[in-house]
Amino acid sequence: MNKGLLSFVLAVGGLAAFHIGLFPVFTPKEIGWVFNRYVYYLLFAFYLVFIHVGLRLKPPMALRALYVWGMGFYFYESILYPPVPWTLFITYMTMWSIGTFLYISQDPLTFREFRAPIVKVIVGDYKLARMVIFVALPFLVGFGTYKALYPHFEEPVELRTVHPAPPATTRVHGKNYTLEGLNNPFRTDEQDNYKDSFPFLDADKQEYMKSVTEGGTIFFQNCHFCHGDQLNGLGMFSHVFNPTPANFIDPGTIAMLRESFLFWRVSKGGPGLPNESTPWSSAMPPWEEHLKTEEIWKVILFEYWYTGWHPRTFDTESSAGKE
Ligand code: HEC
Repeated sequence: MNKGLLSFVLAVGGLAAFHIGLFPVFTPKEIGWVFNRYVYYLLFAFYLVFIHVGLRLKPPMALRALYVWGMGFYFYESILYPPVPWTLFITYMTMWSIGTFLYISQDPLTFREFRAPIVKVIVGDYKLARMVIFVALPFLVGFGTYKALYPHFEEPVELRTVHPAPPATTRVHGKNYTLEGLNNPFRTDEQDNYKDSFPFLDADKQEYMKSVTEGGTIFFQNCHFCHGDQLNGLGMFSHVFNPTPANFIDPGTIAMLRESFLFWRVSKGGPGLPNESTPWSSAMPPWEEHLKTEEIWKVILFEYWYTGWHPRTFDTESSAGKE
């Protein structure tokens, strides 16, 4: 067998055997310092040198250049850990290619030797190779263009539903609540007349104001860290969360929700959100673990009182719309 061909077969076959057979052994789950991937890489390099020196193969310059370049590629592509980003990979490979070229062109002799097979393919007596390459080349370019132009269909971006449909019922502190028609027990005025007045000035609304004040205490003990002391979602911890804590001043949050919805949200928090509200995990804690049922209702009452919003109710007019 031609020595150059033998060298090529041994190198490629060796790489396959090393990569499939030995590489997994050197990359165990626990990172050891003897059996690591760099030792493996050195072993493979030794193997290459060893077969060439041992069998006196003396591969031609072009093949040697291919080995040097290929070893660099293999290192950055598979060995180096953790993997580098592709921009860095290209930078490294550019430098490695320049290095390989310097190695080839170290003197005119080696350079001529390197060029010889290429020249022979283009104009010399490697006729078969010439035919194969010049037929395959346009096809390769065509295929590359096709791949590049073919439209890619990407997965649709998952949009997080900020206000998912609530469940029909929710169980808080061992009691089942049907959310439909559920009202805040501390909203004492059936007609809800205080929405337009200043209840804190109104002597008649004392009972209501007592609940609001208690709710405020609960809010400032538990919620303002995230939702802010002005209920604008800018609490001192708010900046580290994604999604950010709800801004209750904003007309897009509690102003368009029912109190029963809030009751469910405050009780169950982020962990209680249905799948459509992922992928971001909400930092909102499930307050049923820390607050009593009535405390949850009171803090909700406070949020509406403070912001001046009026909750959506179950009367015919507003329940026609959707949550
Ligand atoms: C650790 C931070 C944190 C704390 C403390 C916290 N929340 Fe939240 N809350 C969030 C985040 C983040 C969201 C937005 C994501 C979501 O909807 O779950 C949120 C959302 C909400 C919503 C939903 C608003 C809407 O528009 O759907 C309500 C209601 C709410 N919080 C009430 C409270 C109450 C009441 C308390 C105190 C008892 C509280 N939160 C304490 C982080 C917090």
